[in-house]
Amino acid sequence: MTRAGALLITNIGELVTNDPAPLRDGGRLGIIRDAAVLIEGDRITWVGPAEIPGHDPGFAAAVQGDPRAPEVVDAGGRAVIPGFVDSHTHLVFGGDRAEEFAARMAGRRYEAGGIRSTVAATRAASDDELRARLAGFVAELHAQGTTTFEIKSGYGLSVTDEERLVRLAREVTDEVTFLGAHVVPAEYADREGGADAYVDLVVGEMLAACAPHSRWVDAFCERGAFTPEQSRRVLEAGAAAGLGVRVHGNQLGEGGGVRLAVELGAASVDHCTYLSDADVAALAASDTIATLLPGVEFSTRQPYPDARRLVDAGVTVSLASDCNPGSSFTSSMAFCIAVAVRDMGMTPAEAVWASTAGGAAALRRTDVGALRPGARADLVLLDAPSHVHLAYRPGVPLVSGVWKGGAAVT
Ligand code: NIG
Ligand code: FE
Repeated sequence: MTRAGALLITNIGELVTNDPAPLRDGGRLGIIRDAAVLIEGDRITWVGPAEIPGHDPGFAAAVQGDPRAPEVVDAGGRAVIPGFVDSHTHLVFGGDRAEEFAARMAGRRYEAGGIRSTVAATRAASDDELRARLAGFVAELHAQGTTTFEIKSGYGLSVTDEERLVRLAREVTDEVTFLGAHVVPAEYADREGGADAYVDLVVGEMLAACAPHSRWVDAFCERGAFTPEQSRRVLEAGAAAGLGVRVHGNQLGEGGGVRLAVELGAASVDHCTYLSDADVAALAASDTIATLLPGVEFSTRQPYPDARRLVDAGVTVSLASDCNPGSSFTSSMAFCIAVAVRDMGMTPAEAVWASTAGGAAALRRTDVGALRPGARADLVLLDAPSHVHLAYRPGVPLVSGVWKGGAAVT
C-alpha cells in the first residue's frame, strides 16, 4: 500500500541517510542532524535540515499550515534510519528445532544434516499452514524495522515442494532465492551416487519449476552439503536460467565457497566464518559482498566471523539474520548489530551501514538502504537519540515507527 498524500517527518535529531553526499558528517552514514524527510507516494522526495523552510513546496506548505500540507510526524528529536535490508532468511518452513538448540547448548555440535528434520516437517505442512506462518514472520520483521527481506527455499527438496516454497515466498517478497541445493534429501543421501543424482534433479526439473518465481539461485557449498563442483553445477545452471548468484560458504570450514562465489561473480557469499588470507584478498578484489550472519554463531556456539579483518581489507560487509529454525532463529537485525559490534569488531556505524546499505548491496538494489530523493520511502524511527543505541541497548525494542513504501506498517 502506498500513501495518498505527502508525509513530512520532521524534528529528527539524527537522520542516517547512508548517502555520502558532501557536507554531511558521520562519514559513510551520511548523518544530518535536526533533519526532515518529505515522502510523496512510495518515494522520498526531499531530505535536509529541518530548520530551512521553503526548501521544497511541500515542506513550506507544512510549515505554514496550508490545508494541502502533508501529514506531519514530529520525531521528537529522535533518530531515523533507513529500513533494515535483511538479505538472507529461510522463512518458509514447518515445525521448529528447539530441542536441537537445547542439545547444542548442552554441548552437541551443529551439523548441516539437521536441515532434514525441517524438510520432513515442511513437506507435511499445507500451503495455507506455511502461508499463515510466513505472514506471522513478515509481521515480526516489519515490527522490528526490516522493510526489505530475501527469502530462500531449501526445506522442500523435491520438485513440487521447492516450487511450493518459492511460490509462497514470492507472495510476500520480490527477493526470492531458489536453494534446492541446501542439503541432499534423505531419499537420495543413502545411496551410491545419490548426491550427484540429486544435483541432476536440481539443475533440471526443479530449476525449471522454480526459476519463474525466483530472482536468485544459491547453493550450500560445505562439508555435509555440496562440494564446490556440485555447487558450481547448480549455480551455473541457475545463472543460465537468468538468476543472480548467491552462495552459502565457509560456515563450518574453509571449503571452497568463497572462491567459487568470487569466480562466478556472485552478488554475495554468506557466512564467511572461516576464511584464509587468499579468501579475504579475493573478496577485496571483487564485487561480491561478504554477508555475515551473527545469529548463526550465537546459536551454534561456533566462533564469530571476523568482520574487522574483512572491513580493514576493503571488503564490503553486510549483516543479515539468516532467520531459520536450525542455525539462527532470530529475525532481529538489531540483535545482529549488537553482536557484530560486541563480538565481531564492527563499530556501531559500520554495523548499521552493513544492515541497511550493505544488505541492499548484497541484493544489488539501489532503491533501498539509503534515504535520498528518489529512494523508496522505507524508514525506521528509533526510540533513541542515535543509531549507536542499537548496539548500546541490546535486547531493548527501540523501533517506534516503521514506514515501508511511504505507508506506516507499525
Ligand atoms: O544458513 N547453512 C545452511 N543453511 C542454514 C541452516 C539451515 C538449518 O540448519 O536448518 C544456514 O545456516
Ligand atoms: Fe542460510
